[in-house]
Amino acid sequence: MIWGTPAYLTLLKSVLPPALCVHFAWLGLIAGGATVAVALDILGTPDQRRGLAPILDRLGPGPVAVALLGMTAALILLCVQSGYPPPAPSAIFWGGALAPLLAGLLLLTLYRRLLRMGRGSPLRPGCGLAGIALVLVSTFLLCCGAGLLVAPEKRPLLEAMPQLLLSWYGTARYLEFTCLALAATGAVVALLGERTAGPGNAQFARRLGGGIAILFLLAWPPLLLFALFNLPAIALSRGVWLLAAAGLVTAAILSLLLAGALAKPEQRRAGPILALFLTLFASWVMTDHLARENALDGATMAGLAALVPVPRPVPAQVTPAPTAQVAEAAGKAVFERSCAVCHRFEEKLVGPPLDAVVPKYRQDPAALRAFIRAPVKRDPAFPAMPKLPLTEAEIEAVAAYLLERAAP
Ligand code: HEC
Repeated sequence: MIWGTPAYLTLLKSVLPPALCVHFAWLGLIAGGATVAVALDILGTPDQRRGLAPILDRLGPGPVAVALLGMTAALILLCVQSGYPPPAPSAIFWGGALAPLLAGLLLLTLYRRLLRMGRGSPLRPGCGLAGIALVLVSTFLLCCGAGLLVAPEKRPLLEAMPQLLLSWYGTARYLEFTCLALAATGAVVALLGERTAGPGNAQFARRLGGGIAILFLLAWPPLLLFALFNLPAIALSRGVWLLAAAGLVTAAILSLLLAGALAKPEQRRAGPILALFLTLFASWVMTDHLARENALDGATMAGLAALVPVPRPVPAQVTPAPTAQVAEAAGKAVFERSCAVCHRFEEKLVGPPLDAVVPKYRQDPAALRAFIRAPVKRDPAFPAMPKLPLTEAEIEAVAAYLLERAAP
């Protein structure tokens, strides 16, 4: 079996960034183009609509786009699912992200056909809007799924608590995608408008596209910062900040070039502008990649690989043992089933060594039970501990076991 071998992991890790880059840049232009098309369809004059139709038609998806984007999304899901042990539940990822993507792209293909035929009906914008919404839902799920890789401590618990899939980091990445996609679409509309929209509509295309591009480029930096502040501390490094800073500088240069192109249409510099947009997408993907590599360091991976499903202990006991011993055995069983994935007493795994953190609870065992019942963020050097599905008796047993077993 090649699954899980180091060579396979390296292969997956190296295909993930280019797959993310192609997928999000292309899908961004399709979703952005469809958004501008639907907005014009509803609000624009027939003349404006006719003027911009060729540009928006170029951005629209066809069968090739549907097939290739389905494949890049599947590749990303494959990386998330099997690139890093242990595997996440597959049904949520595959069904949840692929079905809306394919349905959305097919609806947008249909919308493009309807636009070409020029037949106006209230159904037409509805078809476009539904397509955009489905594509965005799938992108949101994909961003959250990829976001799981920077919070690996959630993965063992995902099956029991699917809501752990959602995260502020994933949401921030998704909003960043929307912003960058609309900015790139705006730039394409402004640059192509000059050539394809005809003299009457060229100025309209330039203003509309340039305005959208600059507006969303300016909206992006706060979202980038929001994403960075929602990264777990172990995922942050100087490289992550440097890449983010490079992205910000690229966005600033792009805004200046776009403003220049708006002021002097004859010096458009389309090549550099498009190249800078690609650089911006690449820096967006690589920031995430670096954070992921930081989060999945050796200790975390060892902790996750140590995950062995331990069956629930059979409660019936043949010979009644002394009560203290029964309690300790119960506590130990809970520990091995629910905590050992992430904790050892002497060493750091996903969580801190228990010998270092438990003694402070000696004076106040109730506080230890309260923490296990509802963990709160403690040490910035670690990700947050997830809330575990434990009964009150299990919490009591495991807390007693920790106090008993940890170093004095
Ligand atoms: C999925 C990984 C994971 C699992 C499972 C897990 N923990 Fe944790 N635990 C952590 C992380 C990460 C931290 C550090 C949290 C922080 O500092 O914000 C932590 C911190 C702690 C702390 C220290 C709290 C403090 O005051 O600093 C205790 C005690 C603890 N866990 C007990 C448990 C017990 C008991 C269980 C099982 C019932 C358990 N943990 C299961 C990851 C986990």
